[in-house]
Parts: sequence; structure tokens; C-alpha cells
Amino acid sequence: MHQAKLTLDPAFKVAPVSRRTFGTFVEHLGRCVYTGIYEPGHPTADADGFRRDVLDLTRELGVSTVRYPGGNFVSGYRWEDGIGPVADRPRRLDLAWHSTETNEVGVDEFVRWCRKAGVEPMMAVNLGTRGIAEALDLLEYANHPSGTTLSDLRIANGAKEPHDIRMWCLGNEMDGPWQTGHKTAREYGRLAAETARAMRMVDPKLELVACGSSSSSMPTFGSWEAEVLEETYDLVDYISCHAYYEEKDGDLGSFLASSTDMEYFISSVIATADHVGARLKSRKKINISFDEWNVWYISRFQDAGTPQDWPVAPPLLEDHYHLADAVTFGGLLITLLRNSDRVTAASLAQLVNVIAPIMTEPGGRAWRQTTFHPFAQASRHAAGDVLRVEPDSPLYETKVYGEVPLLHAVATHSATSGTTLFAVNRSADEPLPLEIDTRALGGVRIVEATTLTDPDVYARNTADDPARITPRPNADVEPDPLRVLLPPVSWNVIRLA
Ligand code: AHR
Repeated sequence: MHQAKLTLDPAFKVAPVSRRTFGTFVEHLGRCVYTGIYEPGHPTADADGFRRDVLDLTRELGVSTVRYPGGNFVSGYRWEDGIGPVADRPRRLDLAWHSTETNEVGVDEFVRWCRKAGVEPMMAVNLGTRGIAEALDLLEYANHPSGTTLSDLRIANGAKEPHDIRMWCLGNEMDGPWQTGHKTAREYGRLAAETARAMRMVDPKLELVACGSSSSSMPTFGSWEAEVLEETYDLVDYISCHAYYEEKDGDLGSFLASSTDMEYFISSVIATADHVGARLKSRKKINISFDEWNVWYISRFQDAGTPQDWPVAPPLLEDHYHLADAVTFGGLLITLLRNSDRVTAASLAQLVNVIAPIMTEPGGRAWRQTTFHPFAQASRHAAGDVLRVEPDSPLYETKVYGEVPLLHAVATHSATSGTTLFAVNRSADEPLPLEIDTRALGGVRIVEATTLTDPDVYARNTADDPARITPRPNADVEPDPLRVLLPPVSWNVIRLA
């Protein structure tokens, strides 16, 4: 049988755990907003029409920030459509998802929902069909305390206190030809720079995100980041990365190793950003906002196509995740954490119904998808500093990435809440014995060891069987020396005090 080893040493720190790693995303897409977070008339709806069952699950998921309102949607969005009396709000064509947008939810409702959920709002501005003036108007409406037409309008609309939105995305996926108002890197870089410069005149402390590539396979990947950062380097804090993965052609081995691409993506963007910084003789470092990541069966969506008849909140991108999806997802989360020195913000795309950890029935039940669990456990138990973990692992051969380690792992350590190891066994058919050297931690006690696994790697959670895939205690643990058996295709959490 294969055997893996790793050492936990609190002296080897990558960076503090960034709470913003545990961000998600709410887009006006399909049923994410309507019948997702918002459904007046639902049995659990509160006075504002927000589903309490979804609010509870959002809190349980441990979400830090929520990006809004898109996504592709934002590139045709007029934010003013979503303020004021709901009955007066216009209905518009949403070109991105070929749907009708009713505008019942807009910026004020979204921020109200964020306060109830205990999450930080992160706002994207439209740099597709719009530009600097509209971004400034939204910023003034949202964040200026009072005394101007737009800030007083927010107060008149019921939001006395400023929304105080700190993180702003300068557009969305502007490198993609599918994006309304798609631009070349130079065109986008200039617009992003001037929008950022103007927004900073209002508030120099805003945290601004320039659009990077919508995947590492884009033909402009690398040159896009370089050109955009040449224009924006001194004006922004982050460059974004977006990445989605799916199992293709029954190739489970490569799918489980998807974080290999994410790692390559991150290291390439860091190298590119630092190269631009060096050429500009800047000491500033640009960090990564990995503000869309997930497993997404995009090929199924492309086969189905967009709706033809402009429906309101149609079921779109409603992937039902199985165990192998959750384990791949856990591997992506491990990679984000391993790169915490430069990936200081991330948004799981998305939160509810649309490629989401939370699913709902209109008027009915809400439940946790398999991917809910790695996210919730990592958000709850990652604390203090991320530790540099260098596993000594057997390799396996994949069609897409060549030889890849069976074990993928990261740990966090805090003087008060202890040490937690997050580990994935990518083997499709064999358990992986793992020996953990804890000598640098002093005496340790196992607080909890759980595993997310199932004999059927394609088993899913459903409304009728919502806990089929859920973390369960792992009994195959020995304390001294610390040994744990990781089941095939499993996500594992080992907590030590
Ligand atoms: O998350 C779904 C879509 O994926 C987003 O709208 C877009 O930004 C990306 O292509």
C-alpha cells in the first residue's frame, strides 16, 4: 500500500489566514437571487422577503464576503434600476443570461441581506456598457454619508447609514468575447485605471480589483494581466483570477487533480504581476482576488444553451454535486489556502442554486450540497497562520497533468485554537496511510478527525436525502506517532490541540 508523510511545524508560516478567502458570490443569474436569497411568500421569508433558511445556511457555511451583482450580468447592469420603490422599478432584458430582470432586489436590499447574514458586501461596477461616471455615482450613492443628491436619495430609500463597501471589482471578465462590452487589454486597462483614479478621489482607501483572465486557457492569458497591470499597477490592489473545473470524458484522475491548474494559474499571475512591478520599479505587491472558482459542468450549460424566451429567474447552472466534485473542490480550497501570502481574497461562485453549495426549492426546502462541507469546515477551522506543508506523497499518472501527488494538504495553526490539517486523497480506489510528524508542536491531542467520503464517488445530496454525503468521524486514527488512513476520494480534517 502507498504511504504518505508530512511535518507540521508552526515555525514555517506562509501568511495569516485571510478571512476573505471564504468569500462567495451572488449574481443576478438564474435562481441565485430570486427564490435563492430572496423569496417573499416563502414560509421562512422575513419582513424583507429574505429566506431565513438560506440565511441560516449562509451563516453555517462561514461566508466572509459576497461579491455582487455579477458576473456577466454586471456588464449590462444599470444600478439605478434597483433602487427606490419596488413597484416603480423597470423590467429589463439581461443579455448575459437571456432572462428578464425585475430589479426587485438591488444594492440596498443586497446590503441589507449582507448585514443579516453577517457578511461583507463586495461590489462590481459595470465597465462593459458603462464607465467612470456611473461607477462614481454608485460609489457616492452607496458610501457617501449624506448631503449630496445621491447620498440623500439612499437615505430617502431607507438606508440612513452609508453602506461602506470597501472592495470594488472594476468590471467582470473583460477579456472574454462573451462579455457585453468586451475590450482589449489596453482598452480595458485604460478604463480601469481612470475609473480607479476617480474612485480613489472619492475614497483613497477603497480596495480595488482589476480584471485578470477568465481562465488560464484564454488565448490572452499572461499578456492580458501584464498589459492591464501596466496601466493600473499604482491604482489597484488586486488582479482577479477565475477558474472552473469539470470531469471530462470520464477522466476522474485528472479531475481530482484540477488544483494543479489552479496552482499554475496562481504562480503565473504572481510572476506576471511581479514582473510588471519590477519594470515599474515599484515596491508595491499586487495580490490575487480569486473571485470566481468552483466545479462547474460548463459543457452541460453550453449544450443546453441560454433560454430563448427571456424568462424571469429560470433554473440555470444548477449543478448537483457529487462526492468527487466535493473532493476536487476541497483540493481547490487547499490550493487557495496554500497561496495565502498572495491570494488574500477569493469568492466561491456562487452561493445559492447557481453552481452553489446551497440549493433551494421555490416555496420549499433548502439543503447542503456535497461542496458545502469542505467550505464550511475550512472556514470554521482554518485559524491563525497557514503553515507551509510539504507532503512526501506517492504519485499517480493523470492524462491532463502527468504525475500528480495522491495527497494534497495544507494546515493552519493558532496558539489559541490549535492546529488543523486539511487533506485530500486523490486516489480513486485506494486508501492512503498518512503519517504526520508533530514533534515541533510539542505534545498533541486529537480533537477531531473527520472524513467526507462514500463508496459511490458519484453519490449526491438531495432534498430527500440531504445528509447522504456529510463529514463523519474517521476511526482510522492512531495518536502517537500520529497516523491516519485517508479513504479513497476523500476530504479530511484533522484537528489537534
Ligand atoms: O459564475 C458564472 C459566470 O461565470 C459569471 O457570470 C462569469 O463571470 C463567469 O464566466
